[in-house]
Amino acid sequence: MKKYYIKTFGCQMNVYDSHRIAVILENLGFKPATSLPDADLVIFNTCHIREKAAEKVFSDLGRLNLIKEERAASGKDTIIGLVGCVVQAEDQQIAKRSPFVDFALGPLTYHRIPEILAQISRKKGITLIDTEFPAESKFDYLPENKSEGGCSFLAIQEGCNNFCTYCVVPYTRGIETSRPVEEIIKEAKLLVEGGSVELNLLGQNVNSYHGEDADGKERNLAYLLRRLNEIDGLKRIRYTTSYPADVNDELIACHRDLPKLMPYLHLPIQSGSDSILKAMNRRHTSGQYLEIIDKLREANPSLGFSSDFIVGFPGETDSDFEATLDVVKKVKYIQAFSFKYSRRAGTPAALMPNQVEEKVKKERLEILQNLLFSYQLKFNKESIGKIMPVLFEIKGRHKGQLIGRTPYMQNLHAELGKEYLNKIVNMRVTEATTNSLTGIKEGE
Ligand code: SAH
Ligand code: SF4
Ligand code: F3S
Repeated sequence: MKKYYIKTFGCQMNVYDSHRIAVILENLGFKPATSLPDADLVIFNTCHIREKAAEKVFSDLGRLNLIKEERAASGKDTIIGLVGCVVQAEDQQIAKRSPFVDFALGPLTYHRIPEILAQISRKKGITLIDTEFPAESKFDYLPENKSEGGCSFLAIQEGCNNFCTYCVVPYTRGIETSRPVEEIIKEAKLLVEGGSVELNLLGQNVNSYHGEDADGKERNLAYLLRRLNEIDGLKRIRYTTSYPADVNDELIACHRDLPKLMPYLHLPIQSGSDSILKAMNRRHTSGQYLEIIDKLREANPSLGFSSDFIVGFPGETDSDFEATLDVVKKVKYIQAFSFKYSRRAGTPAALMPNQVEEKVKKERLEILQNLLFSYQLKFNKESIGKIMPVLFEIKGRHKGQLIGRTPYMQNLHAELGKEYLNKIVNMRVTEATTNSLTGIKEGE
């Protein structure tokens, strides 16, 4: 029996894609391997967003080749596949840098894995690469999705037309496409029947969703959320990642009206400075962003926000950076992701003058993160004593411990038996740190 191992880098969309690849492989008769050296087929699902992410793929590949050689010495073949955004961006480099890779497919062509595996058995020693943006949708060719447990991702939209000047995504994932409404509803029902009580709708620019309904009419994310809210057995809905300029009143109303929609929204601003936002080609100012946050809070006062930030974008001055800190102080994010600007070949910002020194980027990142962490810790501390419904998703490090998520995406650790896995349990929060909560089952 052949075994597979998938290593996933990057964002939630890659996690979703890896899961769908696992379903393809299991349909072909593969079983999951418990460790890398145990696998006959290893797939790296890669990320190109920052230089570090992309370089890590190549260094990990070097290590993987040693395993391939060791296995070969004991007579075992290993097929190495590369999928994801690095493949799309660096298809010319792969065979040169890592000639031991057997196949490479972009994020839009991984549905071709079965035919590629059949070809490999005939063409040993050649890297088969397919990174054409295909005319067909991979979703029409993938086997039916399977539930991953209590919480499942569901891709509804892919690609991006925003072309932020620092970002590779429009080049790696292509132009924006939306899956049809009924296809999504069907997949959602399948996942819920398979045991998922929470669905996290994914898209690089998820709130510009514009899929067709059964009558060929274009529908938006608000419509889709209302349809999903009606699915019996589904308890929680989330969506990520939204683009601020595409948040409309109908979507805001969903946060007021839909009980299943969780009170947590990831809404990246990137920078608080209007001149930097303009240089980033973002279609919003910081003022417009704050207005959207106000409207959302008015619709649902219990909403908590998170964001992505980039420090050290070309030309960023001390006062631009101060403007970012001001936004953080106003919004008081309950979670956030922040990065030093990374120069990506092929993007307009890579060629901009006034690139910021590494030392300055490092200092700004530290200041920003300290501020962000202070609000995150404050929010977590305020959770102490509260009772929260927690969806337990994984086992903890020691026996008898489970880890779950609160409605606000906080990790909560608890001493609970595995019968509570994939269930929503009311928990009283007893302790809090910046990164996690501890709780006990309500009534115990
Ligand atoms: N719209 C997508 C963006 C995916 S990239 C989404 O929001 O999911 C995730 C984050 O990576 C971006 O929001 C941005 O903060 C960061 N990022 C993208 N390109 C970057 C670069 N060149 N350097 C540093 N951070 C970057
Ligand atoms: Fe990248 Fe901007 Fe599109 Fe997000 S919105 S994927 S940051 S180009
Ligand atoms: Fe990375 Fe591609 Fe996601 S570049 S962040 S894996 S869309």
